[in-house]
Amino acid sequence: MLSRPIGVFDSGVGGLSVLRALRAALPAERLLYVADTAHCPYGDKPAEEVRARALAVGGWLRAQDAKLVVVACNTATGAALEELRQVLDVPVVGLEPAVKTAAARTRTRRIGVLATSGTVASARFRRLVEQHAPSLEVVAQPCPGLVELIEEGVDGSLLQERLRAYVAPLVRAGVDAVVLGCTHYPFVREALSRVLGGDVDLIDSAPAIARRATSLLDQAGLRAAEGAGSVRLLTTGEPAEVAPAVARLWGEALPVEPLAL
Ligand code: DGL
Repeated sequence: MLSRPIGVFDSGVGGLSVLRALRAALPAERLLYVADTAHCPYGDKPAEEVRARALAVGGWLRAQDAKLVVVACNTATGAALEELRQVLDVPVVGLEPAVKTAAARTRTRRIGVLATSGTVASARFRRLVEQHAPSLEVVAQPCPGLVELIEEGVDGSLLQERLRAYVAPLVRAGVDAVVLGCTHYPFVREALSRVLGGDVDLIDSAPAIARRATSLLDQAGLRAAEGAGSVRLLTTGEPAEVAPAVARLWGEALPVEPLAL
């Protein structure tokens, strides 16, 4: 018998950075991923709109019998985690900027956070900083437009130039740890490292999320026992437009199915 899938979603292909960590940690699981491309980016939209999308996609995943839902998106987590937990009768794992890890690692006591405008403006993010970095200098920098560049696969000098502008306040402040507070950003990690300087620690939440998902499945006795596992991708956008981005970021071509939602 097939085991129940793990549902994962993001506004687009950024959540593949989380899917990659889940696939590595849980190779026997069936992973069902929705890219809500028709509504991407979430980061510049009002929180109510993001919340409505998160509830629609989360509800759809649950209707596919998902045993666990992973919100592979900091912006959707900031806007809708509590509501998702209220309406879904399965565990929901959210993704938050790894401020706690950065606070533990910094030596200069100055940390940077790169995230979407929605995440930086959220009450959840403010609480995270108050809780884990109350005595640190935290430079939180929204990066409007960066998600679109990553979805489109822009690289080279244009990407470098845009990244240099986003990180300028972090460089001026002398941060030594930078949180990648959007799941799209790990895909430009090397380019970011070049503009920030190689000594700056770049922190991605995906490995911690994969550990959390694993322990929740174990606690609930829901981990798939054996088998090769699988990845199934759907998009609310145009599959033919999303497939090249998936192949580029995932490292191999995968079928992308349409989802009307
Ligand atoms: N990848 C998402 C995040 O982690 C959303 C980016 C967006 O759609 O603006 O915030």
